[in-house]
Amino acid sequence: MSELSVNHLLGIKYITEDDINLIFETADHFKEIINRPIKKVPSLRDITIANLFFENSTRTRLSFELAEKRLSADVINFSAASSSVKKGETLIDTVNNILSMKVDMVVMRHPNPGASVFLSKHVNAHIINAGDGPHEHPTQALLDSYSIREKLGSVAGKKVVIVGDILHSRVALSNIFALKLQGAEVKVCGPKTLLPKYIESLGVTVETNLIKALEWCDVANMLRIQNERMEISYYPSTREYTQQFGVNKQILDTLSKEIIIMHPGPINRGVEITSDVADSKQAIILDQVQNGVAVRMAVIYLLASKIKQ
Ligand code: NCD
Repeated sequence: MSELSVNHLLGIKYITEDDINLIFETADHFKEIINRPIKKVPSLRDITIANLFFENSTRTRLSFELAEKRLSADVINFSAASSSVKKGETLIDTVNNILSMKVDMVVMRHPNPGASVFLSKHVNAHIINAGDGPHEHPTQALLDSYSIREKLGSVAGKKVVIVGDILHSRVALSNIFALKLQGAEVKVCGPKTLLPKYIESLGVTVETNLIKALEWCDVANMLRIQNERMEISYYPSTREYTQQFGVNKQILDTLSKEIIIMHPGPINRGVEITSDVADSKQAIILDQVQNGVAVRMAVIYLLASKIKQ
């Protein structure tokens, strides 16, 4: 297979295992390039990409921008805080205005689930979802699986536990879809109030005892509590959350095997993981960040190759 089955990357839900394999093979190539002294390739010299961020972001925005620049694309950045959205303009009007300046691709982060699907139906550009509220964050799940594949050789057959706020996390949902598609076993672990009722219908198992979940897994993906998406209190206090669901070095050292620790960032040190875990050799958090650039380069490159046809 040499091209993606989709014209947009809106969610892992819409892509196939072949798409994932193609993205990973392409990312392998880009990873090799970005470790060379000359990190840039001319592949996207005629392509203009708009990064539209209607929600806060540090690493995802920088990672996309770096990926685009390393492919030699022209890049424009836009964040909601400084835009006409605050003056009452609709999303479609905002984006169409930008597209009339001959933009080929839009990378969008938005607080509303489904925003990028909606946009893909109304504007004439390739859309990449960089996170739509609590729904999906496909490039994060791709870079997470890519990092597991790099560390353990493959994703198929591996046991992955996702720990924390499964209810509000787009990273959790996209990871579940991606891991299942590639044949991994997936467990979720967290306070019952933060585990959606339908979660088992996605083919995952549930464990509310952290130690049991960690004993079972090869990889633990530790998520941040999405306090910004909560209107009520889902757990008694941060201290109690940490006591039951936080990972520290002492816990890791009592496990019968050495597991891998992942985190999408930003980390709340001392809440979901302690500093000695985040900075330990079992953690591959900075590898995830590095792989993010190569994986995003691959996604952008593969979608852009559809423009030229
Ligand atoms: C995640 C996000 O924004 O969904 N972060 C990221 O993309 N690096 C996770 C989070 O904010 O907790």
